[in-house]
Amino acid sequence: MKWVGGKGRLMTQLAPMLPPGVEKMRHVEPFVGGGAMFFARTPKRARLSDVNPDLVATYQAIKEEVEVVIDELRVHKASHSKERYYEVRTLYNETRATAPRAVRAGMFIYLNKTCFNGLHRVNKSGGFNVPAGRYKNPKICDAARLRASSRALRKAKIVCGGFEDLLRDAKPGDFVYFDPPYEPVSRTASFTSYAKDGFSQDDQTMLRDVYAALDKRGCRLMLSNSDVPFIRDLYHRFNIDIVRAARAINSKGNGRGKVNEVVVRNY
Ligand SMILES: C[S@@+](CC[C@H](N)C(=O)[O-])C[C@H]1O[C@@H](n2cnc3c(N)ncnc32)[C@H](O)[C@@H]1O
Repeated sequence: MKWVGGKGRLMTQLAPMLPPGVEKMRHVEPFVGGGAMFFARTPKRARLSDVNPDLVATYQAIKEEVEVVIDELRVHKASHSKERYYEVRTLYNETRATAPRAVRAGMFIYLNKTCFNGLHRVNKSGGFNVPAGRYKNPKICDAARLRASSRALRKAKIVCGGFEDLLRDAKPGDFVYFDPPYEPVSRTASFTSYAKDGFSQDDQTMLRDVYAALDKRGCRLMLSNSDVPFIRDLYHRFNIDIVRAARAINSKGNGRGKVNEVVVRNY
């Protein structure tokens, strides 16, 4: 899936920063989003979570009933048009509480692949409201990739919930990768509203407290965020390195360039 803040293009920089012996550790990702890190690693054991219930249900469907999801996507692919996009968007908003999980997953992936910039944005009442994207030939149904994802996900426990659940669920020796909604670089930038509620500075501080608690517990921790004084300050006790990322640097998305991101590790 396309996901705002997706780590796909950063993996070559992040992979060498993983802890030694990571292959033997359980992989824990509390802000899984598009899951670039998880799918690049395909670990033997994992716990994946996110607060977005539709995203989590989609992963569960890919894990447990991938062939049904593929069939759904084949139908979407055959009928795709701009008009159809808006019909599916309406149908998705009307039926996502009641439709069978694989049907919802098919709609979710279809909308993700054909909407504007792969955004996932919802209005105040939770309705998905992103306009259609302008793609000549969107890859709506990549069966081989879905099956490979299904195989990877079968090794994972996938749950819907906030990062604070790790206080209960993380174990000594786990490798935890945190990729939270980023602290904005400037006050006009707003990449922080992924779900219904944004991610405030109080949330960033609570996340740091969870990070510090898991550090004491003996987990190996790696966290990405934007390189701003507030974040450096929160994590000043830990090891902070820089990676260079290409991303939108203002709210209109037209200020594209390379910006520094921090990687905070406790090893
Ligand atoms: C930067 S994105 C993760 C991107 C991901 N690493 C990737 O490669 O696509 C942040 C994710 O955090 C989720 N999120 C937001 N608030 C959260 C919270 N309080 N607890 C857990 N997940 C949260 C969002 O739904 C979103 O998927």
